[in-house]
Amino acid sequence: MRIADFELERYFARWEFAVRHLLCASDVEAWPMADLLALADDETAALWRDLRLGYTESTGHPLLRREIAALYETADADDILVTAGAEEGIFALVSVLLGPGDHAIVTWPGYQSLYEVARAVGAEVALHELHEADGWAIDLDALRRQVTPRTRLIVINAPHNPTGMVPGRATFDAVVEIAAEGGAILLCDEVYRYLEVDEADRLPAGVDVARHVVSLGVMSKSFAMAGLRIGWLASRDRSILDRVARFKAYTTICSSSPSEILALIGLRARETVLARSRSIVLDNLGALDGLFERWVGTLSWVRPRGGSIGFPRLRADLDVDRFSADLVEAEGVLLLPGTRFGHPGNHFRIGFGRSDLPVAVAGLERHLASGAGG
Ligand SMILES: Cc1ncc(COP(=O)(O)O)c(C=O)c1O
Repeated sequence: MRIADFELERYFARWEFAVRHLLCASDVEAWPMADLLALADDETAALWRDLRLGYTESTGHPLLRREIAALYETADADDILVTAGAEEGIFALVSVLLGPGDHAIVTWPGYQSLYEVARAVGAEVALHELHEADGWAIDLDALRRQVTPRTRLIVINAPHNPTGMVPGRATFDAVVEIAAEGGAILLCDEVYRYLEVDEADRLPAGVDVARHVVSLGVMSKSFAMAGLRIGWLASRDRSILDRVARFKAYTTICSSSPSEILALIGLRARETVLARSRSIVLDNLGALDGLFERWVGTLSWVRPRGGSIGFPRLRADLDVDRFSADLVEAEGVLLLPGTRFGHPGNHFRIGFGRSDLPVAVAGLERHLASGAGG
């Protein structure tokens, strides 16, 4: 298999551990291990204490799958397949669903593997472009026109990376319908679910709405435990999960046993875990409102409706690549230029899941005030 470089991940490989402040990270401030262990109940504390470092069940620890299933209305443990992060879920699912001659539709700009893996396995990909002028909304008429008799997969991601867009319920239902009519599987990348600014905007999980819809989840984002590398696919079509499980024998075989127990602890304490994430993200979003008010004319954005990231635009005469390079040199603050998504607008991704956001924003404002934004 030949696959194009993952631009965003290559950028992070270069910068993530070399800068003082990541003002573009998509995950939420990671849980300290000791704090997580303090949340264990008697059963999970014993599982942790007595853990043996052997192989685990390839579909995922039964208790973990049961706990993941409890996130959904209609799924049970057998409707869940545990993967190495969301990334393996994407890679394996797309690999088993698509091949040469097949067609997929994927929202764009977006997380590159959601369309790059499809290309790499020989499928034709139609990017469904989201536009700032429409609030980054999905265009249902355009989507309908993109469906062909060969369309096997439609991919959406909500809350969306990088824009923070969350479709309204009617739009979501229409996308589910369009996929059904086209005979396609709909993959809903829900890794930022639970971080909707207004909880009333939370969409139902894909797995709960129809059998042809697959949900993708992960511990990395809303659950703030990216280092576990635990993700999952949820589907009521078990033949899909079975095919992915067979594929997984060639990638990771099974999960890391410590990670499975830690994820189980985190999921059993999900109210505490999610309340912490929501509080970090919502406080930071308030701080960013101030930034955009102070720099009207230089910075503008469609305020995210969910997630931990947004996609602001920089004033046209400031080149976003140059600006980001100067900022990281001057202040050690990292932004992610939209060019890493292949996006031509003068946008950058800003992340608001990290606790050092006020310090990072202060650095950004110092840089703007020093003349870069004058
Ligand atoms: C939309 C989306 N899907 C999937 C992933 C992959 O998640 P993980 O790194 O936890 O595997 C990411 C990570 O940034 C993402 O933003």
